[in-house]
Amino acid sequence: MNEMTLKVKDELLKVSFITPKIVNFHYSKNGVFNKDYSFCVEYQKLKNSNVEVNFKEDEKYYYLSSEYLNIAISKELGKVSIYDKDGNLILSDYEDKGYVKEGSKIFTYKEIKYGEAFFGFGERLGSLNKKGQVLINWNTDESNHSMNNDPLYQCHPFFISWHPKASYGLFFDNTFFSYFDMGRENQSYYYFCAQDGELDYYFIYGPSPKEVIEGYTFLVGRCHMPPLWSLGFHQSRWSYDSEKKVYEVAEKFRKRKIPCDAIYLDIDYMKGYRVFTVNRKRFPNFDKMAEDLKRLGFKIVLIIDPGVKWDKRYEVFKEGIEKDFFCKRENGKIFTGYVWPGKSVFPDFLREEARDFWGENHRKFINLGISGFWNDMNEPSIFSKIEYLAMKILFHILKLKEPPKLKSPKSFEEKIKRIKKKTMDEGVIHKLNGKIFYHSEIHNIYGLLMNKATFEGFLKIKPNERPFILTRSGFSGIQKYSAVWCGDNKSSWENLFSSIITLQNLSMSGVPFVGEDVGGFWGDCDKELFARWIELGVFYPFFRVHTAKNTKEQEPWSFGEEVERIAKELISLRYRLIPYIYSLFYEAKEKGIPILRSLILEFPNIREVLNHEDEFMFGPFILVAPVYEKNHRERNVYLPDGFWYDFYTGKRYRGGSSIKVNAPLNKIPLFIREGAIIPMWDVQSYVGEKNQEILTLEIYPGEGKFLYYEDDGTTWDYEKGIYNLVEFSTFKRGEQQVLSVRFVHRGYEGGAKFLNVHYCKKEKKIDFTEGEFEIN
Ligand code: GLC
Repeated sequence: MNEMTLKVKDELLKVSFITPKIVNFHYSKNGVFNKDYSFCVEYQKLKNSNVEVNFKEDEKYYYLSSEYLNIAISKELGKVSIYDKDGNLILSDYEDKGYVKEGSKIFTYKEIKYGEAFFGFGERLGSLNKKGQVLINWNTDESNHSMNNDPLYQCHPFFISWHPKASYGLFFDNTFFSYFDMGRENQSYYYFCAQDGELDYYFIYGPSPKEVIEGYTFLVGRCHMPPLWSLGFHQSRWSYDSEKKVYEVAEKFRKRKIPCDAIYLDIDYMKGYRVFTVNRKRFPNFDKMAEDLKRLGFKIVLIIDPGVKWDKRYEVFKEGIEKDFFCKRENGKIFTGYVWPGKSVFPDFLREEARDFWGENHRKFINLGISGFWNDMNEPSIFSKIEYLAMKILFHILKLKEPPKLKSPKSFEEKIKRIKKKTMDEGVIHKLNGKIFYHSEIHNIYGLLMNKATFEGFLKIKPNERPFILTRSGFSGIQKYSAVWCGDNKSSWENLFSSIITLQNLSMSGVPFVGEDVGGFWGDCDKELFARWIELGVFYPFFRVHTAKNTKEQEPWSFGEEVERIAKELISLRYRLIPYIYSLFYEAKEKGIPILRSLILEFPNIREVLNHEDEFMFGPFILVAPVYEKNHRERNVYLPDGFWYDFYTGKRYRGGSSIKVNAPLNKIPLFIREGAIIPMWDVQSYVGEKNQEILTLEIYPGEGKFLYYEDDGTTWDYEKGIYNLVEFSTFKRGEQQVLSVRFVHRGYEGGAKFLNVHYCKKEKKIDFTEGEFEIN
């Protein structure tokens, strides 16, 4: 790291080059730097980097430059301007407003360039390009997922600015309540503001959006290889509330030969919603059930909520009280709030000892072979006593299928007040090494820390197995620990559509393992909606059906034979794609590149793709154009430049324009990019059922490359080099289409042994060895 402290206006500005492309700007507040920590950025790693930076100054400016960037900072105005090496202005402060203070609040204003578009910001509703919108960073349990409602359960104060000249990213490393105004107040500038803390942000130069994501995830961390089974299909509902029901669902999947890897237990498996307990009336032989399901090839995933019931006879509560692990108010009283178990207390996950205590509580489940945990309500979501009682009446007595809709807040201030009421008071204290932090600063990372507790706890108990953790709340870096689902959507066409947008933005925020409740959570799903949603869910990196209490059944067979057939076919396609998806996760682990990709990631130089946010790429080769309107049996699909092949018919299209395609109920429009190499498996009932000795390669005309990855799918041995990485490439040599196979890394013996190469309806079986093969 190369750090300089400069005097600008009446404050100090620390400029640190983390790499030649990533620069940290950190301003003092009233002359002092109080923040010498980050909850997201791995500081130690950064301190070791050494970047060559040239520094000059004259009367008016400071000049800093690295291999990629030239920065000028005016001494009088404090205005920062960042240029690339061709002299293009990439980012500039707006007038003299690079740093503005107002009481404890801090702001920075930046110019908006002509044609600039903004993506990312974590989990958001509304349109993909956030230009002209305000995005709030305050994790909130929000059950109304209608267009533009903001914020949701997790916020990532990061975005990508796209521009034909160059893209850059900005990460605001501040965990207090904050918001971005991306040109809503004024089209000439955007600004971001936090209610407290310091102005500490990172500029990340691309020039491509993928390079921005790579730079950002270098700072905040990347995912690990997921357990292979977690790429399969997951079935959930609130709740499969008895052993009998769980067996019934499991057996139906196997009998109907619909692939499935996981069944979820929602809150009713617990005794009176006491976390880490089992209701023995409903689940008298829980241990045996876990064994039996394992034999059938299912994993059980258990919901875990952070609220611990206030109950003096309950071990988890007693131990937490004795050891002082729960959050307190400043006056020393334990903070209490209402969640599913009634009056509850909340672990202070900021403290390592409290995280250890939490992790350790998973032991008995982990020892039963359970390796999937679903962290919910961890914003943390907290009800008042009245809300809690109302909820009981609405869902248990009146058996509502969705919560009543509240009136929208009248003003921004009212909205802030409302969302802040849904959680702990901001004055609640957390502690770290004896130092006090208020909830106002920790709120946004509470879920992140809970996931850290689960992840680290799991590794202590089973050091050589990869856990699967799913979370609702999170913050920048959540991908290090968990997959993310986007909470309580609705069985509606609007929500099917909005998932396409939300998942693209969350993916662009460095979180690759993402999904939404397929079929929708609140309300009843119907035949057509379910079929369309399953079709789309195949291309969610995380693929799970889930639905709320009191709603209609939502299993693949619940909507009659036709939909069952469609679901089975589509879920089977998902299982065939697993080697492709797993290889994409390798890229996510290495570089942060997501699985579900906005067109702008694959085609950064084509402005037209900005107009087609209702399509996305699944990895580099598969263009997915979901049908998201009722009764529609065709849709327009925009194909970017190049050649494309209809997945179903093989018909070839020249890209660069939109085409109208048929989309009968059993078909989601899919187009394959020229030069595609898609590794596939045989369908199986669950991951690991078959020993997949043959890897099928679906190869399309043109030139292309794909990095194929394989390992044992469950342990951390890949970190010791026990994996294979193979570069497949295809190209034309004269009249021949050639497949080249090259091992980049060879360390795993249990992988595929043969390649079954499909090219233009021809099939060729060859040994999986290095070489060049003619395939037509
Ligand atoms: C929350 C979760 C939902 C879960 C329910 C009951 O609403 O978002 O997925 O089913 O709680 O635990």
